[in-house]
Amino acid sequence: MARKWSPEGWREMPILQQPNWPDGAVLENTEARLNNSPPLVFAGEARNLRAKLAEACEGRGFLLQGGDCAESFAEFHADNIRDTFRVLLQMAVVLTYGAKLPVVKLGRLAGQFAKPRSADTETIDGVTLPAYRGDMVNGMAFEEAVRTPDPDRLMQAYSQSAATLNLLRAFAQGGYADLHQVQRWNLGFVSESPLGERYRDLADRLTETLEFMAACGLTSETTPQIRETEFYTSHEALLLGYEQALTRVDSTSGDWYACSAHMLWIGDRTRQPDGAHVEFLRGVRNPIGLKAGPSLEPDELIRLIDILNPDNEPGRLTIIARMGADKVEAGLPPLLRAVNREGRKVLWACDPMHGNTIKSNNGYKTRVFDNILSEVSGFFAAHRAEGSHPGGVHFEMTGQDVTECLGGAQAITEESLSARYHTHCDPRLNASQALELAFLIAERLQAERSGENRYMQAS
Ligand code: PEP
Ligand code: CO
Repeated sequence: MARKWSPEGWREMPILQQPNWPDGAVLENTEARLNNSPPLVFAGEARNLRAKLAEACEGRGFLLQGGDCAESFAEFHADNIRDTFRVLLQMAVVLTYGAKLPVVKLGRLAGQFAKPRSADTETIDGVTLPAYRGDMVNGMAFEEAVRTPDPDRLMQAYSQSAATLNLLRAFAQGGYADLHQVQRWNLGFVSESPLGERYRDLADRLTETLEFMAACGLTSETTPQIRETEFYTSHEALLLGYEQALTRVDSTSGDWYACSAHMLWIGDRTRQPDGAHVEFLRGVRNPIGLKAGPSLEPDELIRLIDILNPDNEPGRLTIIARMGADKVEAGLPPLLRAVNREGRKVLWACDPMHGNTIKSNNGYKTRVFDNILSEVSGFFAAHRAEGSHPGGVHFEMTGQDVTECLGGAQAITEESLSARYHTHCDPRLNASQALELAFLIAERLQAERSGENRYMQAS
């Protein structure tokens, strides 16, 4: 029998990666205010997402997840939200059209504000201050007042998440995502790139198909699937006080749901089976994402699955593998084999970003497009070899024309990194690079489905 669970039970467990809030009473007061604030998502939506992920888990769908590494207060703008949403829509169309599979669209945004760090403090010129832990905790500027964790930032992250979600819902359901708009999603710098050209061709074919369907009586008016889309949100549930404050009992089922996002992630650094994060997340019924880096042993993965998905329910657990291009071939198959051997139902998604971070010669934290592609390739190859479904991807990306990752069709070089390097944390693919990857993955999925034994080359 599993131990009893309560929303505050995690407070008894060891916890990593938390800020040192200077005043416990102020924090408590903020958490009480959050507890009285409306939930950001509903249990029914999280259940719908779980059902979609269950389909993907059984091989009948594909998960497209993406967003910033860290959202920021400074970059909060309707245009940024629209641009990220738009490129996710473009990618989803490319994947759906290419792979002939339903694509689950999930933005790791509207709540992705807190980051785990490698050290609690940072020292510059003999001065030591708390490390920057994301805008939800403190600011990036190296000044004592800014680096001191401030609970007001939790409220600000909550309001920014609410406003972001509101706009995303409007985009998804208010006409912007109507498939007839497929050409309009290609505006901006992407439309002038070779990828824009390729996308335009696909959009032309899609428009023709829509005309045919309209002639058959299927239009935006008659068919909600043409008129609108389902869009879900996720983030890493790092600050458990915040998450607990937004956790509610669902009146329909009597189950607990974390209502800060539809899917919540557990970090690679906070996934201790007897730690606070696993304890909190085992008790909410949202779909859960679990980061799996090269240090995760197969036995420990099975132990975590036992705790997080004791009923072996498809769609509950997504393993987000982040091995690195050079480690995926050796690191992933033992995990796939253990899961297959034990008959566990999990959705496998590839995060080809975090295992492939390097420092450029001129000092930028960056990632090479070909390494990202090579990890995706290794992910597909491992699944083919083990007979499991390569069920999805997670990208750190933005709709903006940033220069943070090297290579791709735009051939971004080390010299050009400084031109538009804006990230608050990890380097992101820009819209053109993200779309390019979508085309390459669509080809891969197509080959997978037609049974061809042809692998993408990361040349
Ligand atoms: C992330 O998921 O964006 C991230 C930075 O992860 P981690 O800190 O767990 O490597
Ligand atoms: Co990151």
